[in-house]
Amino acid sequence: MDAATQIEWLERTRRHMAAGSTDMEETVTRIETSRYVDPARLALEEKILFRRYPLAVSFSSKLSRPGDIVTHDLLGIPLLLTRDQDGRLHAFFNVCRHRGAKLVWERGGCGKRALVCPYHAWTYDLAGRLRGIPHEEGFSGVDRAQHNLVALPVAEAFGLVFVVPQPGDSYDFTGFFGQVGRDLESFGLGSHVLHDEREIGIQSNWKIVMEGGLETYHVRYAHKATIAPMFADNVAVADRFDPHARLYFTKQVAKQLEGAALEGKSVRDYGNPLYFIFPNLVILVQPDHATAMAVYPRGTDECTVLGGALIPEPPATEKARLHWDRNVKIFWDALDEDFQMGRAIQSGFRSGANSHVTFGRFEQACAWFHDSMDRALSA
Ligand code: FES
Ligand SMILES: [Fe+2]
Repeated sequence: MDAATQIEWLERTRRHMAAGSTDMEETVTRIETSRYVDPARLALEEKILFRRYPLAVSFSSKLSRPGDIVTHDLLGIPLLLTRDQDGRLHAFFNVCRHRGAKLVWERGGCGKRALVCPYHAWTYDLAGRLRGIPHEEGFSGVDRAQHNLVALPVAEAFGLVFVVPQPGDSYDFTGFFGQVGRDLESFGLGSHVLHDEREIGIQSNWKIVMEGGLETYHVRYAHKATIAPMFADNVAVADRFDPHARLYFTKQVAKQLEGAALEGKSVRDYGNPLYFIFPNLVILVQPDHATAMAVYPRGTDECTVLGGALIPEPPATEKARLHWDRNVKIFWDALDEDFQMGRAIQSGFRSGANSHVTFGRFEQACAWFHDSMDRALSA
């Protein structure tokens, strides 16, 4: 994030702290609750949001060396990521080209040289090229080159691996991320490594979990036993870069900005920048690390969160490991509180008690999320 934006954020924050205010939209936003329970709506979201957009499916550090592989099944379609012998990253459908068996069944691995289908042992290299067919005389006339694995656009950014789960060679990832991508690059997350990865199933619509990450209004109440004392009550700045957004959740320590020179100060010392990357990812930037969480639907009333921390380097000592364990646990503990709330909200929506949800003027990022989504779904 450039210096001018940091100063601008700190100025806005300081004004809000003094006035007891926060960034707000002109009006409240109402959306209908049916969109959290309707199977047809979910089918449309899966078809568009979870097929046509870059999705964070893994962490770069899990694929840092040639021979590393990762599989991903949270989309309901099997994906395979590989780092080939030349160091190139690839994404494929994890589907054998013979008769469609799942090619790699492990969650991940390292030191691989070839991928052997468990059904009839068709063998591929890590660049997805079909290299071997047992009893090949039975496949006379079959062109191997036409039976390479089906490749998907893939890119690494901010320590994460993004895939567009639709066949194709290229996608303008940088153009898609735009300003939020430039901000995130500036935090140097690309060289960070994964710590404490978790995959958590939650009985709530995926959008409820997303919304929990997009406003700070709930922090004082829902997180009173954990992180609330650290944060100012309902003070945030919010910038929209449609379809994405960036927010700044102010900490109590921002009181010290009163009367201080802002030049040279880092926003990371006075609050947490939070980036929403459309459609299903939030990255929370903390003083010395970041945490990422991607949310995948598993039905109208169920979703899976894939997340973890990005730390500057692998812990070299037991003490360092404990430091990060403690730090990252705070993040997961707070999220547990959000997930519990999410389950309760889903059953509330199921009850039919409410026909709509009302987002307050300072829950604007939730409203932006729905607005961007509505436009993507109707395009
Ligand atoms: S389905 Fe993979 S080798 Fe037959
Ligand atoms: Fe929360």
